[in-house]
Amino acid sequence: MAAEPDPDRALADLRALRALTEDDRGAQRVAWTDTWAQARRWLVERLAGLPVRVDTDEAGNLWAVLDGASPDTVVLGSHIDSVPDGGWLDGALGVLGGLEVLRTLAASGTPPPVTVALVDWADEEGARFGRSLLGSGLATGTLDPRDVRDVADRDGVALADALRAHGVDVRAAPAARSRLEPVVAYLELHIEQGPVLERDGLSVGVVTGTAGVERHRVRIRGQAVQGGGFPMDARRDALAAGARLVLDVRTAARDERSRATVGAIDVRPAIPTAVPGVCELVIDQRHPDRDLLAKMRGEVHEAAARIAVEERVEVDFERIWSIAPIAFDAALVDLADETARAETGGSARLFSGALHDAASVAAAGVPTVMLFVQSRDGISHAREEDSSPEAIAAGVRTLAALTRRVIERAARG
Ligand code: GLV
Ligand code: MN
Ligand code: MN
Repeated sequence: MAAEPDPDRALADLRALRALTEDDRGAQRVAWTDTWAQARRWLVERLAGLPVRVDTDEAGNLWAVLDGASPDTVVLGSHIDSVPDGGWLDGALGVLGGLEVLRTLAASGTPPPVTVALVDWADEEGARFGRSLLGSGLATGTLDPRDVRDVADRDGVALADALRAHGVDVRAAPAARSRLEPVVAYLELHIEQGPVLERDGLSVGVVTGTAGVERHRVRIRGQAVQGGGFPMDARRDALAAGARLVLDVRTAARDERSRATVGAIDVRPAIPTAVPGVCELVIDQRHPDRDLLAKMRGEVHEAAARIAVEERVEVDFERIWSIAPIAFDAALVDLADETARAETGGSARLFSGALHDAASVAAAGVPTVMLFVQSRDGISHAREEDSSPEAIAAGVRTLAALTRRVIERAARG
C-alpha cells in the first residue's frame, strides 16, 4: 500500500453519518428500520467510484470487495446499525475506518496481492429482536435460522417479516456462508466502550477475546387486581417480584469480570390503578469464564425460585441467546499489538465484555483480531458516546498498518 490513509476523511464520514441518522436522543440506526436502510444507501454512495464489487449476501450483510491478485481474502468489518438513542461510533467506526483503508488500497492503482473486503454486518446490536450478531451469526453458521423462526419484536412484528421487508429471506441466510470460504483473516476496529485505555493514556489497544453471554427472557405471572381495593398482604404483584429479581441479578455478578444487566422490562396492564399481573424482563449475563458464567446463571435461577415462593408468582425462564467465551487468534493478537505500538507508541491487551461480530467470525474458525480505540469516560450505547479525533485517527492509522501487514503475511502464504 503506497498511499497513506487519511484519518480526516474517515472522521468526516463519521460526522456525516451522524448528521444523517441522529436525533436529539442519539443515533437511530436500528437494524431493519428506514433510518438503517438510509445509512446503508449512504454507505453504498460512499463506495461508488471505488473499484469494488458491492452487494448484499443472503443474510443481509453488505460487502464491498476489492479484488486482489489472489482470491484469498482479508476482511475488515463492523456494523452500521446502532441501538436506539445510541452513539455515533459504536460499529460505524469500524465500517468507516475500514472504508478509508479500502480507499487507500484502491488509490495505489495496482490490485493488492490478496483480495480485501469490507463488510457491514446486519443487526449486530440485536436491539429490536434481542438476538445479537444476527447477520454475522447467520453468515458464519453460529446461528441457525430455525432458532429465530418464532421471534417477534415488542409490537408483535415477526423477525422473518421485518427481514423480508429488507430483502432477506431468513431461511436462505445460511447460503451467505460461502462468503467466508476464501477469508484468511478478519480485522475489526471498534471503540472500547470501557475505561481502560483512557485510564492508561493509550489511544489504541488490542482485544484478546470476548466474554461468554447468557441471555434469558423471564416471564413472571402474578394476578392483576384493583390497586385501591386489594389488601397489600394478599397481592401477587409480578412487578414487585421482578424488582427483587433485578437486584439479585446484580448481586450474582460479584467478581470483577462478571457483568449482568436487566435492560428491558415490560409490565401489564401498566396503568396506575392495577397491581401488575405480568412482568417480563430480559437478563443479560456475561463472563469470560464459561464455568463462572454458568454459576452466575444458576444463582439467578435459584433466586427466582425463592422469589416465586415468597411472592406467590410463577416464574419462567426462556433462553433467548447465548455465546461461549471467544479467544482471538494469538498470532494476530501479537501482530496487532506490535502494530499498535509502532503506530501510536503504546498498546494494551484488553478483554471485551461487549459483544462484536468478530466473535461470530472467530467462532467459525477464521483467524480474527480486534483493535479498540479509547472511549471518553467509557460511555457507549448513549448519545454521549465519544472518542477524541486524535484517538480515532490513531485507530484508523493502526487498522491501515495492520491490514498492510496481514496482507503481506497472507501473500507469503
Ligand atoms: C453489543 O453491543 C453487545 O455488547 O451486546
Ligand atoms: Mn458494536
Ligand atoms: Mn453496541
